[in-house]
Order: sequence, then structure tokens, then C-alpha cells
Amino acid sequence: MYISSVLLLPLLSGSAYAHTYIWGVFVNGVDQGTFRGIRTPAYNGGPNAGGYANSPVKDVGSIDLRCNVLGDIQAPDTLKVQPGDNLTFDWHHDYRNDTDDVIASSHHGPSLIYISPDPPTENSFVKIWHEGLYESLPFPKPGKWSTTSNVAKNFGHMNVRIPKDLKAGFYLLRAEMIGLHEGESSFLTNPRRGAQFYPDCVQIEVTGNGTVDLPKGVSFPGAYNYSDPGIVYDVYCSTETKSRTTGGPCTTTYPIPGPTVWSGAWAETTAVSVGPVSGTTTAAPWSTWIQNSVVTSATYTDRRSVTVVGSSVYVAKWSTTYQTPAVATKRW
Ligand SMILES: *[C@@H]1O[C@H](CO)[C@@H](O)[C@H](O)[C@H]1NC(C)=O
Ligand SMILES: *[C@@H]1O[C@H](CO)[C@@H](O)[C@H](O)[C@H]1NC(C)=O
Ligand SMILES: *[C@@H]1O[C@H](CO)[C@@H](O)[C@H](O)[C@H]1NC(C)=O
Ligand SMILES: *[C@@H]1O[C@H](CO)[C@@H](O)[C@H](O)[C@H]1NC(C)=O
Repeated sequence: MYISSVLLLPLLSGSAYAHTYIWGVFVNGVDQGTFRGIRTPAYNGGPNAGGYANSPVKDVGSIDLRCNVLGDIQAPDTLKVQPGDNLTFDWHHDYRNDTDDVIASSHHGPSLIYISPDPPTENSFVKIWHEGLYESLPFPKPGKWSTTSNVAKNFGHMNVRIPKDLKAGFYLLRAEMIGLHEGESSFLTNPRRGAQFYPDCVQIEVTGNGTVDLPKGVSFPGAYNYSDPGIVYDVYCSTETKSRTTGGPCTTTYPIPGPTVWSGAWAETTAVSVGPVSGTTTAAPWSTWIQNSVVTSATYTDRRSVTVVGSSVYVAKWSTTYQTPAVATKRW
């Protein structure tokens, strides 16, 4: 495969787009280091598209819905955790500190976390946490949505706890935010709109003497469909009394997509206080992007000065057996 040399990660700050991904993971409040263990998405917009490291995935049938663009490519490091550990994903937009906006204030939607053995197999993603519209407020207020009122307001922190007694082994945590601000139309019927998915996968090794196996879960792609009422949903119904699409009365309850949360997951997820960030708070300028499955590598000076050094067709290659990640090289 072409990778490694081009996996330096992408970012242009000051972008008008408020796209988001995970910059770090705290384990019991201790930062594991910027980008460590995270399959950070490749830039998927093209060199002249305005530049940002993570345009959303909108096609629910795409392999990119699993772990985002280049999600089959392993990070060189895996985070060691134990059952019962409290993890805090640190989502950001432009930079990794508390002044970052995390995700645009318009991107109301749910947040979801799944766990799967690594590598995933058919129906291996098990939902362990989710949160959607958690407080409806009177018109014209949008109500409180997980992405904009919880995660964004809490400095990008999204909390999850490793299931009790989970059997030791390698797993992927698939965390996701969904922006519903253009979700009143299906991407199928109007590719300019549609719900925006921001999935991101973190590599963990669970240690200890746990005995619990994960139950059967769902597949990505496969778990979501445009016929799901939580995927094509008029989010403005929480800010207006009439649906923008039908003109009829609004539905003010929101059905979170995907399966129910596994009964083996912790019933409560508590925010733990976190220590200092370790590593940089800015990302390297992107040097790779994907457009229509063509990967282009570049040397980068600034947004207007990109030298294309090569292209290749990108086809995600998910292994069916666990492979030890390549030796870590410093990436931040
Ligand atoms: C959505 O469901 C329909 C009907 O079952 C199916 O034909 C289609 O392939 C599904 N789409 C995706 C993206 O899974
Ligand atoms: C995780 O958080 C819960 C709830 O605050 C706490 O009881 C538990 O001790 C924490 N686990 C670890 C490993 O710190
Ligand atoms: C956050 O990081 C950005 C980018 O490095 C920087 O401009 C800004 O001053 C930082 N803010 C704080 C409070 O550290
Ligand atoms: C696992 O079991 C072994 C043998 O009983 C014990 O020595 C070890 O401390 C246990 N490890 C954990 C993390 O509980």
C-alpha cells in the first residue's frame, strides 16, 4: 500500500467549516498524547475545496462509514486499557485546546460510541453509549443536542467506560457525531444535503482477566439506512413549530440511529476530570487527500502552494485477522 509516508495529518486552520475529529484520548483523566492510537481521518475534500482534514461521510453505504476515510489504516500505537477504565475522547476542529469550537453550533445531532473486536467482522460493532436530543426546550430554542450542547460545550469531551469484565484483546472504539443540520433531505435524493457523519476509530488493547465476550452487533456500513427516521430528520423541528420539508407539525422526539445500547455497557457514564494535554495542540498541514477514491500526495507550503507528488487509486483494505501495527514513528 501507498501509505505511511503520506499519513501526516491534515489541517488548515481558520476554515469556515466546523468539521471535527478526535485529537486525543484521556484514560482515567490522563492524556495518552495527541493523535496516539487514533485512526485520524484523511482529508477528503480535494486541494481547492477550502481545505479541512475531515469532511463528513454522507453515504451510509460507504466503507468510510466504518472508521472514516483511510479508516482501515492502523495507527502505529494502541492504547492499553482495563475493564472499568474511564475514557474521554477529545474532539476538536481547528486546534486542541479549550478555546476551539469543537463542532459548528449549527451541527445539532446525536453522539454514539461502539466497540468491536479489531479487526471488525460481520455484525461486530456493539453500541455502548449514545445521546441524542436530551432536552426539548420551548420554541424557538433548538433544545439540547448531544453534539452542540454536551460535547461542544464540554471542550470536546465525550466520555465512555470500558465494559466491566470485558475479555482481554484488541478492540476498536468507534466514536461518532452526526450533524443533522442538512438532514431533512436524504443524501440519496439530494447529494448536496443529507446527514453528516463524523466517525473516528481508536485502537485499544484491553488487558486483565475479563471473561465477557461482546454480543452480536451491527456492521458499518449496514447499521444505518436512509429509511431510518434518525438519519433523515428535520432538526429544525426543534427550533420551529412546522417542519421545513412537510410544512406539517414537528416531531420533537428524536430516535437515535443504530441498535439499542448493549446491556453489558455501563448504565452511567460519568465525566472524569482530565489532566493536561500532552503533545501539540495544532495538526500538521495536510499532505494527502482523497477525492472519488483517488489518493493524492502533495508537498505542502500553504493553502495556495501545493505541489502534487503522486496519485493512486484508494481502495480500503480491511484485514480479516489482527495484524500488529507497524512500529511507531513520531507523528506529532
Ligand atoms: C437500506 O435498506 C434497503 C431496504 O432494505 C436496502 O435495499 C438498502 O441496500 C439499504 N441501504 C444501505 C445503505 O444499507
Ligand atoms: C470511573 O468512573 C467511575 C464513576 O465516577 C468511578 O467510580 C470509577 O472508579 C472510575 N474508574 C477508574 C478506573 O478510575
Ligand atoms: C489554542 O491554540 C491556538 C492554536 O495554536 C492558539 O492560537 C490559541 O491561542 C490557543 N488558546 C489558548 C487559550 O491556549
Ligand atoms: C489476572 O489473574 C492472575 C492470576 O490469578 C493475577 O495474578 C492477576 O493479578 C490478574 N490480573 C488482573 C489485572 O486482575
